[in-house]
Amino acid sequence: MPASTMEELVALAKRRGFIFQSSEIYGGLQGMYDYGPLGVELKNNLKAAWWRAMVYERDDVEGLDAAILTLPTTLRYSGHEATFTDPLVDCRNCKARWRADHLTDAKCPGCGSTDLTEPRDFNLMFKTSVGPVDDGTSFAYLRPETAQAIFTNFKNVLDSTSRRPPFGIAQIGKAFRNEITPRNFIFRVREFEQMELEFFVPPGDDEGWHEHWVEARLDWWEAQGVPRSSLELYHVPADELAHYSKATVDVMYRFPHGVEELEGIANRTDFDLGSHTKNQDELNISAKVTNNTHSNARLAVQDLQNKTWQVPYVIEPSAGVDRGVLAVLNEAYRVEQLDNGGERTVLAFKPHLAPIKVAVLPLKKNHDGIVARAKEIKQNLQKLGLGRILYENTGNIGKGYRRHDEVGTPLCVTVDFQTIEDDDTVTVRDRDTMAQERVSVEALADYVRARLAD
Ligand code: GAP
Repeated sequence: MPASTMEELVALAKRRGFIFQSSEIYGGLQGMYDYGPLGVELKNNLKAAWWRAMVYERDDVEGLDAAILTLPTTLRYSGHEATFTDPLVDCRNCKARWRADHLTDAKCPGCGSTDLTEPRDFNLMFKTSVGPVDDGTSFAYLRPETAQAIFTNFKNVLDSTSRRPPFGIAQIGKAFRNEITPRNFIFRVREFEQMELEFFVPPGDDEGWHEHWVEARLDWWEAQGVPRSSLELYHVPADELAHYSKATVDVMYRFPHGVEELEGIANRTDFDLGSHTKNQDELNISAKVTNNTHSNARLAVQDLQNKTWQVPYVIEPSAGVDRGVLAVLNEAYRVEQLDNGGERTVLAFKPHLAPIKVAVLPLKKNHDGIVARAKEIKQNLQKLGLGRILYENTGNIGKGYRRHDEVGTPLCVTVDFQTIEDDDTVTVRDRDTMAQERVSVEALADYVRARLAD
Protein backbone atom coordinates (compact mmCIF):
# COMPACT_ATOMS: atom_id res chain seq x y z
CA MET A 1 0.00 0.00 0.00
CA PRO A 2 1.21 3.56 -0.67
CA ALA A 3 2.27 5.64 2.36
CA SER A 4 -0.65 6.54 4.55
CA THR A 5 0.74 9.78 5.91
CA MET A 6 2.79 12.64 4.59
CA GLU A 7 4.81 12.52 7.83
CA GLU A 8 6.19 9.09 6.94
CA LEU A 9 7.32 10.32 3.54
CA VAL A 10 8.83 13.53 4.91
CA ALA A 11 10.74 11.57 7.56
CA LEU A 12 12.06 9.00 5.08
CA ALA A 13 12.94 11.72 2.57
CA LYS A 14 15.05 13.50 5.15
CA ARG A 15 16.57 10.42 6.82
CA ARG A 16 17.76 8.93 3.54
CA GLY A 17 18.80 12.12 1.77
CA PHE A 18 16.02 12.65 -0.74
CA ILE A 19 14.61 16.04 0.26
CA PHE A 20 15.61 18.66 2.83
CA GLN A 21 13.97 21.89 3.97
CA SER A 22 15.85 24.71 2.24
CA SER A 23 18.10 26.91 4.45
CA GLU A 24 17.24 24.58 7.33
CA ILE A 25 20.21 25.57 9.52
CA TYR A 26 18.83 29.13 9.62
CA GLY A 27 15.31 28.04 10.43
CA GLY A 28 14.19 27.21 6.90
CA LEU A 29 12.78 29.19 3.99
CA GLN A 30 9.06 28.56 3.58
CA GLY A 31 7.93 26.97 0.36
CA MET A 32 11.45 25.94 -0.74
CA TYR A 33 13.05 22.49 -0.65
CA ASP A 34 16.47 21.12 -1.61
CA TYR A 35 16.96 17.73 -3.22
CA GLY A 36 19.68 15.65 -1.55
CA PRO A 37 21.98 12.94 -2.96
CA LEU A 38 19.17 10.48 -3.71
CA GLY A 39 16.51 13.09 -4.42
CA VAL A 40 18.51 14.60 -7.25
CA GLU A 41 18.90 11.16 -8.84
CA LEU A 42 15.18 10.40 -8.53
CA LYS A 43 14.20 13.78 -9.91
CA ASN A 44 16.68 13.53 -12.80
CA ASN A 45 15.41 10.05 -13.63
CA LEU A 46 11.80 11.26 -13.70
CA LYS A 47 12.72 14.19 -15.94
CA ALA A 48 14.76 11.91 -18.22
CA ALA A 49 11.79 9.53 -18.52
CA TRP A 50 9.57 12.45 -19.53
CA TRP A 51 12.11 13.72 -22.08
CA ARG A 52 12.51 10.23 -23.55
CA ALA A 53 8.76 9.80 -23.95
CA MET A 54 8.03 13.34 -25.17
CA VAL A 55 11.02 14.02 -27.41
CA TYR A 56 13.06 10.89 -28.27
CA GLU A 57 10.25 8.39 -28.71
CA ARG A 58 8.25 10.75 -30.93
CA ASP A 59 9.29 12.39 -34.16
CA ASP A 60 7.13 15.45 -33.85
CA VAL A 61 8.63 17.23 -30.82
CA GLU A 62 11.71 19.45 -30.41
CA GLY A 63 13.35 20.52 -27.14
CA LEU A 64 14.11 23.93 -25.64
CA ASP A 65 15.91 25.28 -22.58
CA ALA A 66 15.08 28.97 -22.24
CA ALA A 67 16.04 31.67 -19.71
CA ILE A 68 14.20 31.87 -16.39
CA LEU A 69 14.31 35.67 -16.13
CA THR A 70 11.57 36.98 -18.38
CA LEU A 71 10.92 40.38 -19.90
CA PRO A 72 7.86 42.02 -18.32
CA THR A 73 6.47 42.71 -21.82
CA THR A 74 6.21 38.97 -22.44
CA LEU A 75 4.20 38.49 -19.28
CA ARG A 76 2.07 41.53 -19.99
CA TYR A 77 0.91 40.19 -23.36
CA SER A 78 0.57 36.65 -22.01
CA GLY A 79 -1.98 38.06 -19.55
CA HIS A 80 0.01 37.15 -16.44
CA GLU A 81 0.56 40.71 -15.20
CA ALA A 82 -3.18 41.33 -15.15
CA THR A 83 -4.60 37.96 -14.20
CA PHE A 84 -2.03 35.67 -12.57
CA THR A 85 -3.41 36.27 -9.10
CA ASP A 86 -4.81 34.45 -6.12
CA PRO A 87 -7.36 35.95 -3.72
CA LEU A 88 -5.70 36.88 -0.42
CA VAL A 89 -7.21 37.69 2.97
CA ASP A 90 -5.52 39.03 6.11
CA CYS A 91 -6.47 37.94 9.60
CA ARG A 92 -6.92 41.15 11.62
CA ASN A 93 -6.35 39.25 14.85
CA CYS A 94 -3.04 37.37 14.26
CA LYS A 95 -1.96 39.21 11.06
CA ALA A 96 -1.48 35.96 9.12
CA ARG A 97 -2.27 35.91 5.37
CA TRP A 98 -4.25 33.17 3.66
CA ARG A 99 -5.59 32.20 0.29
CA ALA A 100 -9.27 33.00 0.49
CA ASP A 101 -10.25 29.94 -1.57
CA HIS A 102 -8.39 27.64 0.87
CA LEU A 103 -10.36 28.72 3.96
CA THR A 104 -13.19 26.72 5.43
CA ASP A 105 -16.00 28.56 7.25
CA ALA A 106 -14.24 31.94 6.65
CA LYS A 107 -12.06 31.28 9.71
CA CYS A 108 -8.33 31.97 10.15
CA PRO A 109 -6.60 28.54 10.17
CA GLY A 110 -3.94 30.02 12.49
CA CYS A 111 -5.97 31.49 15.39
CA GLY A 112 -9.56 30.63 14.50
CA SER A 113 -10.66 34.26 14.29
CA THR A 114 -13.40 35.23 11.85
CA ASP A 115 -12.16 38.82 11.73
CA LEU A 116 -10.78 38.66 8.19
CA THR A 117 -10.33 41.34 5.52
CA GLU A 118 -12.20 41.19 2.23
CA PRO A 119 -10.31 39.11 -0.41
CA ARG A 120 -8.02 41.10 -2.73
CA ASP A 121 -6.00 39.99 -5.72
CA PHE A 122 -2.35 39.16 -5.10
CA ASN A 123 -0.05 38.72 -8.12
CA LEU A 124 2.04 35.57 -7.74
CA MET A 125 5.02 36.57 -9.88
CA PHE A 126 8.42 37.24 -8.31
CA LYS A 127 10.33 40.29 -9.58
CA THR A 128 14.04 40.96 -9.55
CA SER A 129 16.07 43.93 -10.73
CA VAL A 130 18.29 43.53 -13.78
CA GLY A 131 21.62 45.36 -14.15
CA PRO A 132 23.66 47.37 -11.65
CA VAL A 133 21.11 50.12 -10.90
CA ASP A 134 18.14 49.11 -8.83
CA ASP A 135 15.87 52.09 -9.56
CA GLY A 136 12.74 50.04 -10.11
CA THR A 137 12.58 50.65 -13.86
CA SER A 138 14.73 47.77 -15.04
CA PHE A 139 13.33 44.52 -13.77
CA ALA A 140 12.45 41.04 -14.91
CA TYR A 141 10.07 38.40 -13.63
CA LEU A 142 11.08 34.92 -12.61
CA ARG A 143 8.89 32.96 -15.00
CA PRO A 144 5.67 31.61 -13.43
CA GLU A 145 5.44 28.87 -16.10
CA THR A 146 8.02 27.63 -18.59
CA ALA A 147 5.49 27.88 -21.41
CA GLN A 148 5.89 31.54 -22.38
CA ALA A 149 9.44 31.15 -23.71
CA ILE A 150 8.19 28.33 -25.91
CA PHE A 151 5.69 30.75 -27.47
CA THR A 152 8.19 33.59 -27.86
CA ASN A 153 10.66 31.16 -29.50
CA PHE A 154 8.01 29.63 -31.75
CA LYS A 155 9.35 31.33 -34.89
CA ASN A 156 12.98 30.51 -34.04
CA VAL A 157 12.20 26.83 -33.67
CA LEU A 158 9.96 26.78 -36.73
CA ASP A 159 12.55 28.48 -38.92
CA SER A 160 15.49 26.41 -37.67
CA THR A 161 13.79 23.01 -37.92
CA SER A 162 11.31 23.46 -40.80
CA ARG A 163 8.54 21.99 -38.66
CA ARG A 164 4.88 22.42 -39.47
CA PRO A 165 1.89 21.64 -37.23
CA PRO A 166 1.20 19.21 -35.76
CA PHE A 167 4.45 19.43 -33.84
CA GLY A 168 5.51 20.29 -30.31
CA ILE A 169 8.18 22.04 -28.28
CA ALA A 170 9.11 20.49 -24.93
CA GLN A 171 10.85 22.12 -22.01
CA ILE A 172 11.76 21.17 -18.45
CA GLY A 173 12.75 23.86 -16.01
CA LYS A 174 12.19 25.95 -12.92
CA ALA A 175 9.12 28.08 -12.40
CA PHE A 176 8.41 30.43 -9.50
CA ARG A 177 5.20 31.49 -7.80
CA ASN A 178 4.92 33.56 -4.66
CA GLU A 179 2.28 31.20 -3.25
CA ILE A 180 0.36 32.77 -0.36
CA THR A 181 0.20 29.51 1.57
CA PRO A 182 2.85 27.00 0.45
CA ARG A 183 2.07 23.65 2.06
CA ASN A 184 1.97 19.88 1.99
CA PHE A 185 5.73 19.32 1.65
CA ILE A 186 6.80 19.62 -2.01
CA PHE A 187 3.21 19.73 -3.26
CA ARG A 188 2.76 23.51 -3.19
CA VAL A 189 6.05 25.37 -3.17
CA ARG A 190 7.34 28.74 -4.35
CA GLU A 191 10.18 27.38 -6.48
CA PHE A 192 9.42 24.24 -8.47
CA GLU A 193 10.03 22.56 -11.78
CA GLN A 194 7.66 21.95 -14.64
CA MET A 195 7.76 19.55 -17.58
CA GLU A 196 5.78 21.27 -20.30
CA LEU A 197 4.91 20.46 -23.86
CA GLU A 198 3.30 23.00 -26.16
CA PHE A 199 1.88 20.98 -29.03
CA PHE A 200 0.87 23.13 -32.02
CA VAL A 201 -1.99 21.88 -34.17
CA PRO A 202 -4.16 23.23 -36.98
CA PRO A 203 -7.30 24.94 -35.61
CA GLY A 204 -10.12 22.44 -35.77
CA ASP A 205 -7.85 19.52 -34.91
CA ASP A 206 -7.39 20.77 -31.34
CA GLU A 207 -10.10 18.76 -29.62
CA GLY A 208 -8.91 15.45 -31.06
CA TRP A 209 -5.33 16.20 -30.03
CA HIS A 210 -6.51 17.20 -26.56
CA GLU A 211 -8.03 13.74 -26.11
CA HIS A 212 -4.87 12.13 -27.48
CA TRP A 213 -2.68 13.91 -24.94
CA VAL A 214 -4.91 13.09 -21.97
CA GLU A 215 -4.60 9.38 -22.79
CA ALA A 216 -0.87 9.61 -23.54
CA ARG A 217 -0.18 11.31 -20.23
CA LEU A 218 -2.19 8.77 -18.23
CA ASP A 219 -0.17 6.00 -19.89
CA TRP A 220 3.06 7.80 -19.03
CA TRP A 221 2.18 8.18 -15.36
CA GLU A 222 1.30 4.51 -15.25
CA ALA A 223 4.75 3.67 -16.65
CA GLN A 224 6.24 5.68 -13.74
CA GLY A 225 4.46 3.47 -11.21
CA VAL A 226 1.42 5.71 -10.67
CA PRO A 227 -1.51 3.46 -11.66
CA ARG A 228 -4.74 4.68 -13.14
CA SER A 229 -6.53 3.56 -10.00
CA SER A 230 -4.68 6.35 -8.13
CA LEU A 231 -5.57 8.97 -10.75
CA GLU A 232 -8.78 10.82 -11.58
CA LEU A 233 -9.61 13.20 -14.40
CA TYR A 234 -11.14 16.56 -13.52
CA HIS A 235 -12.76 18.47 -16.37
CA VAL A 236 -12.26 22.04 -15.15
CA PRO A 237 -15.59 23.94 -15.24
CA ALA A 238 -15.77 27.05 -17.42
CA ASP A 239 -15.75 29.50 -14.50
CA GLU A 240 -12.51 27.98 -13.12
CA LEU A 241 -10.52 27.94 -16.38
CA ALA A 242 -7.25 29.87 -16.64
CA HIS A 243 -7.48 33.03 -18.74
CA TYR A 244 -5.91 31.30 -21.78
CA SER A 245 -7.86 28.06 -21.75
CA LYS A 246 -10.80 26.83 -23.79
CA ALA A 247 -10.82 23.47 -21.96
CA THR A 248 -8.58 21.92 -19.31
CA VAL A 249 -8.44 18.36 -18.00
CA ASP A 250 -6.53 18.03 -14.74
CA VAL A 251 -4.90 14.73 -13.87
CA MET A 252 -5.65 14.40 -10.16
CA TYR A 253 -3.62 12.13 -7.91
CA ARG A 254 -4.46 10.64 -4.53
CA PHE A 255 -1.67 12.45 -2.58
CA PRO A 256 -1.31 11.61 1.12
CA HIS A 257 -3.08 14.89 1.99
CA GLY A 258 -5.93 14.43 -0.51
CA VAL A 259 -6.83 14.25 -4.18
CA GLU A 260 -5.16 17.17 -5.97
CA GLU A 261 -3.71 18.22 -9.32
CA LEU A 262 -0.63 16.43 -10.58
CA GLU A 263 -0.74 17.71 -14.15
CA GLY A 264 -2.94 20.02 -16.19
CA ILE A 265 -3.70 19.39 -19.87
CA ALA A 266 -5.06 22.55 -21.44
CA ASN A 267 -6.36 23.61 -24.82
CA ARG A 268 -4.75 27.07 -24.96
CA THR A 269 -6.21 27.76 -28.44
CA ASP A 270 -4.33 30.46 -30.39
CA PHE A 271 -4.36 32.70 -27.32
CA ASP A 272 -0.61 32.86 -26.64
CA LEU A 273 0.82 32.88 -30.16
CA GLY A 274 -1.88 35.40 -31.08
CA SER A 275 -1.19 37.65 -28.10
CA HIS A 276 2.54 37.79 -28.85
CA THR A 277 1.94 38.62 -32.51
CA LYS A 278 2.07 42.06 -34.13
CA ASN A 279 -0.73 43.26 -36.40
CA GLN A 280 -3.23 40.75 -35.09
CA ASP A 281 -5.96 42.21 -37.26
CA GLU A 282 -4.35 40.70 -40.36
CA LEU A 283 -4.83 37.24 -38.89
CA ASN A 284 -7.86 35.21 -38.05
CA ILE A 285 -7.15 34.86 -34.33
CA SER A 286 -10.00 33.52 -32.23
CA ALA A 287 -8.68 34.57 -28.84
CA LYS A 288 -7.30 38.04 -29.48
CA VAL A 289 -7.10 39.90 -26.18
CA THR A 290 -5.07 42.98 -26.82
CA ASN A 291 -3.35 44.69 -29.68
CA ASN A 292 0.36 44.03 -29.37
CA THR A 293 2.37 47.16 -30.10
CA HIS A 294 5.72 45.76 -28.91
CA SER A 295 6.25 42.47 -30.72
CA ASN A 296 7.96 42.42 -34.10
CA ALA A 297 6.94 38.86 -34.89
CA ARG A 298 4.09 37.08 -36.59
CA LEU A 299 3.80 33.79 -34.72
CA ALA A 300 1.92 32.03 -37.46
CA VAL A 301 2.41 29.46 -40.19
CA GLN A 302 1.95 30.20 -43.86
CA ASP A 303 -0.13 27.93 -46.03
CA LEU A 304 2.21 27.17 -48.92
CA GLN A 305 -0.59 26.84 -51.44
CA ASN A 306 -2.83 29.83 -50.84
CA LYS A 307 -0.18 31.92 -48.99
CA THR A 308 -2.53 32.75 -46.10
CA TRP A 309 -1.24 32.84 -42.54
CA GLN A 310 -2.73 30.75 -39.76
CA VAL A 311 -2.03 30.87 -36.02
CA PRO A 312 -1.91 27.27 -34.71
CA TYR A 313 -3.83 26.12 -31.67
CA VAL A 314 -1.89 24.71 -28.72
CA ILE A 315 -2.49 21.66 -26.56
CA GLU A 316 -0.41 21.84 -23.38
CA PRO A 317 0.31 18.91 -21.06
CA SER A 318 2.00 20.60 -18.09
CA ALA A 319 3.27 18.42 -15.24
CA GLY A 320 4.96 19.39 -11.98
CA VAL A 321 8.26 17.60 -11.39
CA ASP A 322 8.03 17.99 -7.62
CA ARG A 323 4.46 16.74 -7.50
CA GLY A 324 5.60 13.87 -9.71
CA VAL A 325 8.39 13.02 -7.28
CA LEU A 326 5.89 13.08 -4.41
CA ALA A 327 3.45 10.81 -6.27
CA VAL A 328 6.17 8.35 -7.27
CA LEU A 329 7.55 8.25 -3.71
CA ASN A 330 4.09 7.71 -2.30
CA GLU A 331 3.29 4.87 -4.70
CA ALA A 332 6.65 3.19 -4.12
CA TYR A 333 6.50 3.32 -0.31
CA ARG A 334 5.55 0.22 1.62
CA VAL A 335 6.16 -1.27 5.04
CA GLU A 336 6.25 -5.08 4.98
CA GLN A 337 5.98 -7.60 7.79
CA LEU A 338 8.75 -10.19 7.67
CA ASP A 339 8.51 -13.89 8.53
CA ASN A 340 10.90 -13.40 11.45
CA GLY A 341 8.48 -10.95 13.07
CA GLY A 342 10.38 -7.85 12.03
CA GLU A 343 9.44 -5.38 9.33
CA ARG A 344 11.14 -3.58 6.50
CA THR A 345 10.48 -0.35 4.63
CA VAL A 346 10.78 -0.58 0.86
CA LEU A 347 10.64 1.98 -1.92
CA ALA A 348 9.56 -0.23 -4.80
CA PHE A 349 10.43 2.22 -7.57
CA LYS A 350 10.28 1.23 -11.21
CA PRO A 351 13.94 0.41 -11.97
CA HIS A 352 14.38 3.36 -14.37
CA LEU A 353 13.46 5.74 -11.53
CA ALA A 354 15.55 4.14 -8.77
CA PRO A 355 18.24 6.58 -7.57
CA ILE A 356 20.77 3.75 -7.28
CA LYS A 357 20.45 0.90 -9.75
CA VAL A 358 22.87 -1.56 -8.19
CA ALA A 359 24.84 -1.51 -4.93
CA VAL A 360 28.05 -3.51 -4.97
CA LEU A 361 28.94 -4.68 -1.46
CA PRO A 362 32.16 -6.45 -0.44
CA LEU A 363 31.46 -9.11 2.20
CA LYS A 364 34.64 -8.28 4.14
CA LYS A 365 35.48 -4.67 4.73
CA ASN A 366 39.26 -5.07 4.96
CA HIS A 367 39.94 -7.96 2.64
CA ASP A 368 42.10 -6.58 -0.18
CA GLY A 369 41.14 -9.22 -2.76
CA ILE A 370 37.38 -8.88 -2.18
CA VAL A 371 37.52 -5.09 -2.05
CA ALA A 372 39.52 -4.84 -5.28
CA ARG A 373 37.21 -7.23 -7.12
CA ALA A 374 34.11 -5.36 -5.86
CA LYS A 375 35.52 -2.03 -7.07
CA GLU A 376 36.29 -3.54 -10.43
CA ILE A 377 32.77 -4.97 -10.74
CA LYS A 378 31.30 -1.57 -9.84
CA GLN A 379 33.36 0.18 -12.53
CA ASN A 380 32.36 -2.35 -15.16
CA LEU A 381 28.65 -2.07 -14.31
CA GLN A 382 28.93 1.72 -14.28
CA LYS A 383 30.10 1.63 -17.90
CA LEU A 384 26.77 0.12 -18.98
CA GLY A 385 25.20 3.59 -18.73
CA LEU A 386 22.23 2.43 -16.69
CA GLY A 387 22.53 5.15 -14.04
CA ARG A 388 24.25 5.24 -10.69
CA ILE A 389 26.00 2.05 -9.51
CA LEU A 390 27.21 2.39 -5.95
CA TYR A 391 30.23 0.70 -4.42
CA GLU A 392 29.65 0.63 -0.66
CA ASN A 393 32.06 -0.87 1.82
CA THR A 394 30.54 -1.01 5.31
CA GLY A 395 31.17 -4.69 5.99
CA ASN A 396 27.60 -5.28 7.17
CA ILE A 397 25.68 -6.92 4.36
CA GLY A 398 22.39 -7.36 6.25
CA LYS A 399 22.25 -3.67 7.14
CA GLY A 400 23.24 -2.81 3.58
CA TYR A 401 20.28 -4.77 2.22
CA ARG A 402 17.87 -2.99 4.58
CA ARG A 403 19.24 0.43 3.70
CA HIS A 404 19.02 -0.28 -0.01
CA ASP A 405 15.44 -1.57 0.37
CA GLU A 406 14.61 1.75 2.00
CA VAL A 407 16.09 3.84 -0.81
CA GLY A 408 14.71 1.59 -3.54
CA THR A 409 17.88 0.01 -5.00
CA PRO A 410 16.58 -2.83 -7.20
CA LEU A 411 19.67 -5.06 -6.95
CA CYS A 412 22.50 -5.63 -4.46
CA VAL A 413 25.59 -7.52 -5.61
CA THR A 414 27.69 -9.10 -2.87
CA VAL A 415 31.29 -10.01 -3.55
CA ASP A 416 32.66 -12.74 -1.25
CA PHE A 417 35.37 -15.40 -0.90
CA GLN A 418 33.70 -17.63 -3.46
CA THR A 419 34.00 -14.79 -5.99
CA ILE A 420 37.75 -14.44 -5.70
CA GLU A 421 38.86 -17.93 -4.69
CA ASP A 422 36.50 -20.25 -6.41
CA ASP A 423 34.17 -19.70 -9.34
CA ASP A 424 34.04 -15.92 -9.89
CA THR A 425 30.35 -15.70 -9.06
CA VAL A 426 28.54 -13.07 -6.96
CA THR A 427 25.30 -13.09 -5.00
CA VAL A 428 22.59 -10.89 -6.51
CA ARG A 429 19.80 -9.99 -4.14
CA ASP A 430 16.43 -8.73 -5.37
CA ARG A 431 14.83 -5.78 -3.55
CA ASP A 432 11.22 -6.87 -4.02
CA THR A 433 11.39 -10.62 -3.41
CA MET A 434 14.56 -10.62 -1.27
CA ALA A 435 15.54 -13.74 -3.26
CA GLN A 436 19.26 -14.32 -3.76
CA GLU A 437 20.89 -15.91 -6.72
CA ARG A 438 24.48 -16.75 -7.71
CA VAL A 439 25.47 -15.18 -11.02
CA SER A 440 28.82 -15.45 -12.76
CA VAL A 441 30.69 -12.17 -13.09
CA GLU A 442 31.03 -12.82 -16.78
CA ALA A 443 27.23 -12.91 -17.19
CA LEU A 444 26.55 -10.09 -14.73
CA ALA A 445 26.26 -7.21 -17.23
CA ASP A 446 23.58 -8.97 -19.28
CA TYR A 447 21.83 -10.16 -16.14
CA VAL A 448 21.69 -6.65 -14.64
CA ARG A 449 20.59 -5.09 -17.93
CA ALA A 450 17.72 -7.56 -18.21
CA ARG A 451 16.64 -7.17 -14.58
CA LEU A 452 16.62 -3.36 -14.76
CA ALA A 453 14.48 -3.24 -17.87
CA ASP A 454 10.97 -2.28 -16.76
N1 GAP B 1 1.72 26.32 -18.21
C1 GAP B 1 0.54 25.88 -17.55
C2 GAP B 1 0.65 25.90 -16.11
O1 GAP B 1 1.61 26.41 -15.56
P1 GAP B 1 -0.55 25.12 -13.92
O2 GAP B 1 -1.72 24.20 -13.74
O3 GAP B 1 -0.59 26.43 -13.22
O4 GAP B 1 -0.41 25.31 -15.49
C3 GAP B 1 1.13 23.14 -14.14
O5 GAP B 1 0.78 24.34 -13.51
C4 GAP B 1 1.66 22.16 -13.12
O6 GAP B 1 2.74 22.75 -12.39
C5 GAP B 1 0.64 21.75 -12.07
O7 GAP B 1 -0.17 20.68 -12.51
C6 GAP B 1 1.55 21.32 -10.92
O8 GAP B 1 1.97 19.98 -11.11
C7 GAP B 1 2.75 22.24 -11.07
N2 GAP B 1 2.65 23.36 -10.09
C8 GAP B 1 1.96 24.50 -10.24
N3 GAP B 1 2.11 25.27 -9.14
C9 GAP B 1 2.91 24.61 -8.29
C10 GAP B 1 3.43 24.88 -6.99
N4 GAP B 1 3.20 26.03 -6.35
N5 GAP B 1 4.23 23.94 -6.41
C11 GAP B 1 4.51 22.78 -7.05
N6 GAP B 1 4.05 22.49 -8.27
C12 GAP B 1 3.26 23.37 -8.90
